[in-house]
Formats: sequence, C-alpha cells, structure tokens
Amino acid sequence: MKIDLSGKVALVTGGAAGIGRACAQTLAQAGALVVVVDINLPGAQETIDSIGSGLALRCDLSDPQDVEAMRDRVLTEMGKVDILVNNAGIISYRRGIGAVSLEEWNKVIDVNLRGPFLVCRVFIEEMKKLGWGKIINFSSLAARVGGIEVGIHYAASKAGLIGLTRTLAKEGGPYGINVNAVAPGIIATEPVKRQIAGHEEQYISQIPLRRLGEPQDVANVILFLASPLSDYITGIVLDINGGIYMG
Ligand SMILES: NC(=O)c1ccc[n+]([C@@H]2O[C@H](COP(=O)([O-])OP(=O)(O)OC[C@H]3O[C@@H](n4cnc5c(N)ncnc54)[C@H](O)[C@@H]3O)[C@@H](O)[C@H]2O)c1
Repeated sequence: MKIDLSGKVALVTGGAAGIGRACAQTLAQAGALVVVVDINLPGAQETIDSIGSGLALRCDLSDPQDVEAMRDRVLTEMGKVDILVNNAGIISYRRGIGAVSLEEWNKVIDVNLRGPFLVCRVFIEEMKKLGWGKIINFSSLAARVGGIEVGIHYAASKAGLIGLTRTLAKEGGPYGINVNAVAPGIIATEPVKRQIAGHEEQYISQIPLRRLGEPQDVANVILFLASPLSDYITGIVLDINGGIYMG
C-alpha cells in the first residue's frame, strides 16, 4: 500500500537539521504540505528549499509568546495542522548531578519538555475540530535506560515526554487524534557524531544490527506513525535503536 499524505499539513519542529530535516523531506515525499519550525531559520529554509515548497518559520520553542505567534502564522497560511512532529530538542552531556546548574536544567527542560507541551497546547483544539490528527513526540533511549552519553536533565526531559504523550493520547483519542512517541537510540546526526567521535566502535559492537542509526531510519517510522496505517496505535513509545535496548 502506498502512503499518501496529500491534503495533509505536517508541522515538523527542529526541521533545520538532522532527524527533523529527514522527517520533513520524507513527509513531503509522501505528499504532505510541510511547515518547518526551528530557532535556526536559514536551516529551516534550506530544508524547505530541498523540498521545493512549504513554509519555514523561526520560533524559539522555549518561548510561549513565540509559540503562540508561530501558531497564528501557521493557521493563517496553512489553515490547519494534521500532523505534528515534536522533534526539536537539545542534547546535554552526562556528568555528575552536582555539576548540572539550575540554569542548565531549566534550559533543557524548557526546550525538550515544555516546548512540546506548548506546541501541543496551541494546536490540539484545532486538531480536535478536524477529527483526525497525528502527534509524534521525541523521547529517547536515555528515557528507557538512563543517560549513556547524555545528562540527567536530558534523560528527565525525555522521560517526561512519555507521560505527556500517554496523557494526551487519552485526551485526543475520542477525537481521532493519535499521540505517540519514538525513542531513538544512537542516530548519526552532527551533534552525536561529534560526541562519540573516536569511540563509535564501542557502541556499534553493542548494537545487534551492528550500525548506528541514520536520520532516515527515524523518518521512516515517523511516516508510518503520521499515516493512516497507524490509526489504531496510540500512547506507545516506539524504540528505534537497532536492538540495543529491547523493551
Ligand atoms: N541523534 C540521536 O542519537 C537522538 C537520540 C535520541 C533522541 N534524539 C532526539 O531527536 C531529536 C532530533 O535530534 P537530532 O540529533 O536531529 O538533533 P539536531 O541538533 O541535529 O537537531 C535539532 C534541531 O532542533 C532545533 N532546536 C534546538 N533548540 C530549539 C528551540 N529552542 N526552538 C526551536 N528549535 C530548536 C535545532 O536548531 C536543530 O535544527 C531531538 O529531540 C533529540 O533529543 C536524538
């Protein structure tokens, strides 16, 4: 069966780079009209240029006013959002809890957890009116097993997203809105490649599929969760990790 998302508007946060860019491109290839929202506007525009159409918007997802202004622009220009991919996030690296300042804790929670909360909150009522919608949040392997390379604040933000996802799945279900999360493992995007440079083999040897993940591996799963093929799935956390953790 061919996945056809024509007529659907898909909003991808953090689509200026990495996994978000692959998701935006993949959803567009399936026919969706794509909006890329990112704090990095040139990067978001580059993604849209690679697709050939769509809308790139600058928005700092940790800023509630920015998120509301973004919602107004999207609804004015696109009329609706059918598919919401809350991919944007910042990675913080592991060290002892005593070395994590309150300021850094707040920043990571604000972007990774409060950001998706704000974005879901500004779009959910419009989605309920449509009677069909897909929300996909980005958790992480770190929420499943504790941070390996990443910090306690990152792992806590990604674990929080699981509770957010399941609670929103209960609210959205009666309106035909599926809310799911993905938990990627070690995906070879720029920040991750930088962090594990020199010890990649240590990870690869622990991954049953014997390779790091690629952004496209995640985008393929997002396409499934954004499509009618997943209409009876809600509230799940789908691991995309080559088998390094089997929940
Ligand atoms: N790469 C991995 O191994 C991995 C593993 C598990 C989970 N994840 C999650 O997947 C998502 C994408 O990761 P990635 O590796 O592609 O990262 P990335 O750094 O390549 O891309 C993240 C994007 O988010 C944007 N962003 C950051 N802060 C923002 C803000 N305040 N407002 C708006 N946009 C903002 C960045 O500009 C960037 O374009 C993240 O949520 C990350 O936590 C990644």
